[in-house]
Amino acid sequence: MNLRGTTPPTRQRAASSWVVCLAAALLTAACGNEVSIDAPNGRAPSAPAFADSAVDADLVARGAYLATVGNCAGCHTAPGGAAMAGGLRIETPYGAVYTGNLTPDLQTGLGGWTADDFHRAMHDGRAPDGRRYAPAFPYPSFTHVARADNDALFAYLQSLPPVQQANRPHELRFPYGTQVALAVWQWITFTPADAPTVAPSAGVARGAYLVRGLGHCGECHAPRDHWSAAASDLSGGEMPGARWYAPSLHPTLGSADALAQTVALLRDGRNSHGTVTGPMATVVLKSTQHWRAADLEQAARYLQSLPPAPPAAEAAPAAATLLAAGARLYADRCADCHGNDGAGVPDAYPALAGNPSVTQPSVRNLVQLLRHGGFAPTTAAQPRPFGMPPADLSPDQTAAVLTHLRQAWGHRATAVSALDVLKAN
Ligand code: HEC
Ligand code: HEC
Ligand code: HEC
Repeated sequence: MNLRGTTPPTRQRAASSWVVCLAAALLTAACGNEVSIDAPNGRAPSAPAFADSAVDADLVARGAYLATVGNCAGCHTAPGGAAMAGGLRIETPYGAVYTGNLTPDLQTGLGGWTADDFHRAMHDGRAPDGRRYAPAFPYPSFTHVARADNDALFAYLQSLPPVQQANRPHELRFPYGTQVALAVWQWITFTPADAPTVAPSAGVARGAYLVRGLGHCGECHAPRDHWSAAASDLSGGEMPGARWYAPSLHPTLGSADALAQTVALLRDGRNSHGTVTGPMATVVLKSTQHWRAADLEQAARYLQSLPPAPPAAEAAPAAATLLAAGARLYADRCADCHGNDGAGVPDAYPALAGNPSVTQPSVRNLVQLLRHGGFAPTTAAQPRPFGMPPADLSPDQTAAVLTHLRQAWGHRATAVSALDVLKAN
């Protein structure tokens, strides 16, 4: 493993010294030495102390943790496929992309890469041959990752068993997959960050580093401009290529226990206001529940330090007939689990009264949840979470029951129409 990209790739070096020696051998038998230092472990004589396997093991362990923080496996492992061998299909508004093979296979993975190559991919969004990556690879976030963390990630990836699996070509519509389009996109929207050499180890700076960088929370939670580039605030965004809305992560005024609630949501998949569901359930399942307590706490502190979200405007009450129809449907179809008063059942069914998911500005997630059902993540706090079955309601019924939820129990969110439901589907 060549961890200091500043030393030239060792294979090349070994090969070139062979050529030199071969030539020299014709004249004298002088330079056998260098070859024997170079060749056996493929390490250049000037390689730093990483030869020490204790240091290596430590670096690999650090990299493994960082890979969990960045949820690399979440995108780089296809369903039923080998771990980190890529091949997962990701839908984008411009067509589908496939993730790459990150195992150290020489032909199809990162076997021939140096630490410099890896850092360039993460930091600049460029392949070793200069090719620009599609931003479905969240390098606009990963560009904030410190060099030392990239080196640890690389050491970890290089320690995995190599898997031979060629990368699948993307299926992006013309011209989006072309290098010209990606060059224009990078030129307009992307500037590699002035990343630190070593990551901040504590404090809110650590939280910001994790949220903005490896955690790539903004890839879903930031609004996007018409170039599909994520803004730097976390005031909520439509997930590109998916029918979900990732709500604002800016603090709302007057929630005194917000810090503990955010930590609980990210660690346990639920807090006293509700649960995570949909794509966020996957983030908790694969990533945030495994973050170290101190990292989660600092991430939550950083979110609390963001400018507070403006309070939502109070919507006018919906038509009485709509509200009555919604209340009837709720009593028939929902109250068994969530309770007539919307209080839910502790450790089983989330409360809907006072639940921020219910009163979000966008109704996308509510429509998706009623249509497809929901699955909370399995975590230490909820080893066997209950699922919510699909509700099987017409657009009119969905609109009525959601309007009821959004205006019952003191909620003052906007009413929902059948058209809103169709648009969110
Ligand atoms: C949201 C999904 C997603 C996540 C999370 C993600 N990646 Fe990727 N990654 C991609 C996609 C898509 C590509 C392919 C980009 C392209 O080819 O244009 C890619 C490509 C790469 C490549 C280039 C591979 C090659 O063959 O050239 C590297 C290196 C990489 N990712 C590393 C990582 C690491 C390390 C992590 C975790 C810290 C990570 N990725 C997390 C989606 C993701
Ligand atoms: C069989 C029990 C059951 C029934 C019936 C049921 N739910 Fe649920 N509901 C759940 C469970 C369990 C969850 C948590 C699932 C998750 O986190 O994905 C949930 C989650 C929710 C959430 C998201 C809460 C959050 O914090 O994100 C909403 C909104 C919701 N249900 C509304 C409804 C409505 C409206 C109905 C009736 C049409 C209904 N549910 C019927 C069990 C049920
Ligand atoms: C793949 C997209 C995606 C990523 C990445 C992501 N989220 Fe989310 N997140 C969502 C969606 C969608 C929801 C809404 C569904 C729900 O409430 O469960 C959500 C909900 C949340 C909520 C609940 C907000 C509320 O008001 O109910 C919090 C807190 C949160 N995310 C924090 C984070 C943090 C911190 C990160 C980064 C470590 C992150 N998310 C990364 C998609 C994402």
